[in-house]
Amino acid sequence: MDLIGIIDKLKDTRDLTNEEWEALLDTEDEEALSYLSSCARQVREKIYGKAVYIRGLIEFTNYCKNGCYYCGINCKNTNAERYRLSDEQILACVREGYELGFRTFVLQGGEDPYYTDDKIVSLVRAIKQMHPDCAVTLSIGEKSEESYRAFFEAGADRYLLRHETASPDHYRKLHPENLSWENRMNCLKTLRGIGYQVGCGMMVGSPYQTTEDIISDLRFIKEFHPDMCGIGPFIPHKDTIFKDEPAGTLEMTLKLLSIIRLLVPDVLLPATTALGTIDPMGREKGMQYGANVVMPNLSPVMVRGKYALYDGKICLDSESAECIKCLSARVASVGYEIVVDRGDHKNA
Ligand code: 5AD
Ligand code: FES
Repeated sequence: MDLIGIIDKLKDTRDLTNEEWEALLDTEDEEALSYLSSCARQVREKIYGKAVYIRGLIEFTNYCKNGCYYCGINCKNTNAERYRLSDEQILACVREGYELGFRTFVLQGGEDPYYTDDKIVSLVRAIKQMHPDCAVTLSIGEKSEESYRAFFEAGADRYLLRHETASPDHYRKLHPENLSWENRMNCLKTLRGIGYQVGCGMMVGSPYQTTEDIISDLRFIKEFHPDMCGIGPFIPHKDTIFKDEPAGTLEMTLKLLSIIRLLVPDVLLPATTALGTIDPMGREKGMQYGANVVMPNLSPVMVRGKYALYDGKICLDSESAECIKCLSARVASVGYEIVVDRGDHKNA
């Protein structure tokens, strides 16, 4: 089968053989890639129209007890300047974000034991009380079912936990012994069972990632049918053991965005900050390949640089108001439109 045939098959059956996956993942054929992206745009526009949803990202702590090899804020990095935002600072970000049109707030942080369940519960409650019309998303890592339930009962709507890789062997090469692939996958299932809208995802081009690993990721994503899927290129951080590893590529990330759009037509798919970091037009291109979400940073500018998962992160000096203006223009430049909306998942 030729590449156009493979893409048609993907669109119609959402299932490919190993050989077909390999052909599609390996190709650099421009005609095929342009066809792939146009199919992805078509599917995205049928479900979500021209709307781009925004999520206000509040990076509230860069303390982390884990030692993920790829991540710049891992616990072994003594060069990282650690910070925590106070409740008042977090709520000020929310207030400002609301005025700028955000209706989803994402509380993201390292796995920081300082934030007990009670502290998270009271933060979630405070945000929901201030703005009952907003969605609250948590992205604070692996917790017990009990904790996940407590956050959900406090009003948290969504949870982002990238699966990182669907291959247990690959997982082992990216994480220290005390972290387990099984636990991560179980967390995702637990979150789903509790009733959260759930986001998974992985890095593109992370060290040791093979085509086979990517095929496993795609099969997992199709089967899990996440509400959201965050993918972005791996970018090395200077204080990690992966500092000399090559970054993931723009081309592979774009291709995977389109493929994921076709595999899970109704998925919420962000054009990530990492994509905007490896290419100045990365986020615009992401939207042209099927992404329909952007997640600008609402954290105070004075801590932005400290939440450094990778080197070269964009928007470090831009106030939230500047970012949203900049992003609106970027989104408009590719024919889409930022909307004031919670941006809930729509069932196709
Ligand atoms: N490059 C790109 N993405 C990274 N993440 C962590 N470190 C890096 C890096 N060096 C991603 C992980 C994590 C998410 C919050 O950020 O996938 O789940
Ligand atoms: Fe932050 Fe452009 S999106 S400056």
